[in-house]
This record gives sequence, structure tokens and C-alpha cells, in this order.
Amino acid sequence: MYDFSADSADCARAVEAGLSDYLTGARLSGPGPAAERLVEAMRHGSLEGGKRLRPLLVRQAAAIFSVPREAALPAGMAVEMVHCYSLIHDDLPAMDDDDLRRGRPSVHKQYDEATAILAGDALLAQAFAVLADPHCHADPAVRVALIAELAQGGGAGGMVGGQMRDIEGESGGLTEGEIAVMQAMKTGALIRASVRMGALLGGADARALSALTAYAEAAGRAFQLADDILDVTATPEIMGKATGKDAGAGKQTLVARLGVEAARQMLDDIVADAISALRTFGPRADGLRATARYFAAREK
Ligand code: IPE
Ligand code: IPE
Ligand code: MG
Ligand code: MG
Ligand code: MG
Repeated sequence: MYDFSADSADCARAVEAGLSDYLTGARLSGPGPAAERLVEAMRHGSLEGGKRLRPLLVRQAAAIFSVPREAALPAGMAVEMVHCYSLIHDDLPAMDDDDLRRGRPSVHKQYDEATAILAGDALLAQAFAVLADPHCHADPAVRVALIAELAQGGGAGGMVGGQMRDIEGESGGLTEGEIAVMQAMKTGALIRASVRMGALLGGADARALSALTAYAEAAGRAFQLADDILDVTATPEIMGKATGKDAGAGKQTLVARLGVEAARQMLDDIVADAISALRTFGPRADGLRATARYFAAREK
């Protein structure tokens, strides 16, 4: 029987340890020594907190192809670093202007805006250094495929493009379809990349990759829908970040459009879609099934 709590706790521990080892002045130095304040801000923005769900998806997708957990860790760390950078920038005054993240002051509050911008930039760059390192995978062709996947998921047609649409949407006027595209990009794209990177580590064939992509796209929609519901229903104490802000900020969400009850129903339907995309995989995909259910049931 797959045990979601045990697996996700183990993954979170491994990611925490891996990032804590990697994000040091010694490991990050390049042509020059990494600036101490920058390293501290990178650590503040990525250590001690976070559900580490994207690395979990990498390892669960890789597990379908019998890739050992440890072998999926560097790729998982790389996605998590891009995710942490996206949160640091998302919280900036020019974006969502949030002072609290993962139960602590957001990076621009703890340091300052310039440092937060630079810490995010550095996490993004270093994520690709992790993927390019032979420790990530022995085959250079697989490393290049991972790099391309994360670049696409994080780029203008992915997370950053979705963030642009989110900001543009604050002045209103998005259709339900446009909201879905924005969400598929700002949040879905990194979730999609996580699952596909796990599949690439496992040498998935085209059919398996396409089934896993369908799973990931549904899971990504579920994840952001749950986040938008929790913005209405949960407290900052539990979430570790501000809640109740989306409506006032003019955020275009399906919850604002449909109401919480209809959004919950939609969430259940999307999770069922995600799970049905995994039907060809049998019990090896129980991890991904459990995570899709968790995406909808989560309370933080
Ligand atoms: C929050 O992501 C931002 C969204 C994409 C909705 P998570 O809910 O995964 O945040 P952490 O990493 O656990 O803090
Ligand atoms: C964030 O969406 C998506 C990102 C790419 C960071 P939100 O703005 O809703 O995330 P939270 O609620 O601040 O975590
Ligand atoms: Mg935002
Ligand atoms: Mg935000
Ligand atoms: Mg939110």
C-alpha cells in the first residue's frame, strides 16, 4: 500500500537536506565568490517550509519507471528552486505584495526588494546548474531534455507567461477559458514539467509521456483551483501566507466566477480526470494518484 504521508515527508526531508547542502557560499561560487547576503536570502526563500510537492511529483513519476528516489532528487531540487524563485517574485510589492510566506516574512520583507529580486534570479540560474551537473543523470541527452523541459515550464509560455496574464487580468474582463489558460500557465506549467521530468529520468516512451502529461495538466488545474478556494476558506495561520486577498486584488479566479461550492465540485471532477489518465500504469502510479487526491483535499 502506498503511504502518501510517509512518502511526502521523506521527500520533503530529502529536498530540505539537498537544498541546504547546495545553497552555500562554497557550492555557489563561480568565477567569483557568491555574495553572502545573496546566499542568505536564497536560503531564506527556499529552506524550512514548503510542501515540496513538485519534487514529490518528479520522484513519483520516475518511480513508475523504477528510478530510485535518490536518483530523482537533483531534478526535484531544480524544479523546487524555480518554484521558490517564483514565490519570492510573486510576493514582491510590484506583484502580489505579500509580507508572509511559509509562515515567515517574505524575502523582500526580511531583506529588501533588490535582494529579493536577485535571490530569485540566482535560484533560477542555479536550478539549471543542478540539471547540467552529471550528478543529475549520467546521460547528457537526458540532462539536456530536463533542462529544456524546465525552461519551457518556467518560461514565457509557462509560469512567467501565466504570471503576466494574472497581473494583466487584475483589470478584469477574462473569460472562464482565459482564466483556465492563465492558471494552466502560472501554476500548471511547473507541475507539468515536474511530472514530465520524472518521466524523462525514467526513459518514458512517447505514449507514457503523453498519458503522464494529461495527468499533470489536470493535476495542475486542480492545484490552482484548490489554492484559490483556500484563499477564501483558510486562515493565514494555517496557510502560512495571506488569505482573503484575491477578490480585493481583482484576481480573476474560477472561485470568484463560480462560487466556492461549484468550484469544489469542479475540483473533484478534475481530480477524477487526472486519475483516469493514469489507468495504463497500474499500482506503480499509486503515488501520483494519491498526490492528485491530496491536491484537492489539502487544507494548506
Ligand atoms: C503556492 O504553491 C503557489 C502556487 C502555485 C499556488 P505551494 O502551495 O506548492 O507552496 P509551498 O511550496 O508549499 O509553499
Ligand atoms: C502563484 O499564484 C503562482 C506562482 C507562479 C507563484 P498565487 O499568487 O495565487 O500564489 P500564492 O497564493 O501567493 O501562493
Ligand atoms: Mg500571484
Ligand atoms: Mg501570490
Ligand atoms: Mg493564491
